[in-house]
Amino acid sequence: MKLLVINGPNLNMLGIREPDIYGREDYASLVAYIERCCSELGAECRVFQSNHEGAIVDEIQAAYGAYDGIVINPAAYTHTSVAILDALKAVALPAVEVHLSDVNAREEFRRVSYAGMACVKTFCGKGFAGYGEAIAFLKDYLGKIDTDVAR
Ligand code: DQA
Repeated sequence: MKLLVINGPNLNMLGIREPDIYGREDYASLVAYIERCCSELGAECRVFQSNHEGAIVDEIQAAYGAYDGIVINPAAYTHTSVAILDALKAVALPAVEVHLSDVNAREEFRRVSYAGMACVKTFCGKGFAGYGEAIAFLKDYLGKIDTDVAR
């Protein structure tokens, strides 16, 4: 299983950025956590972060034919980006949305998720653990697809 994990703008500022909301651990710790979760489940992963919408679209397009699934925290682009939604739909890979904070318990504008419309599941408000749950969920989900195809 090959997974692409995408993190959007300002997530590289973890540890510095609004620690009461996003915690005190830095981005390198998040990447190490994601890589550990993947290796424990026998998955290969690439972890990508960008502050640029087009770079995220390019990365999603490049995943076509190269990855089995996508875990994505589009950060602020969650609430604005039809381009990221369309890219996820275009490649049609199983995608799971993650947010460190509980976006539904914050400002009204965070309740809209465009990317989420192309995702099979969302984990939010669980901090780093949400990524672990997303990776475990995708492994299970991809296993079920394989079983269905084998039938
Ligand atoms: C976030 C929530 C978004 O609303 C915000 O813009 C982010 C991070 C989260 O992980 O909780 O940058 O995606």
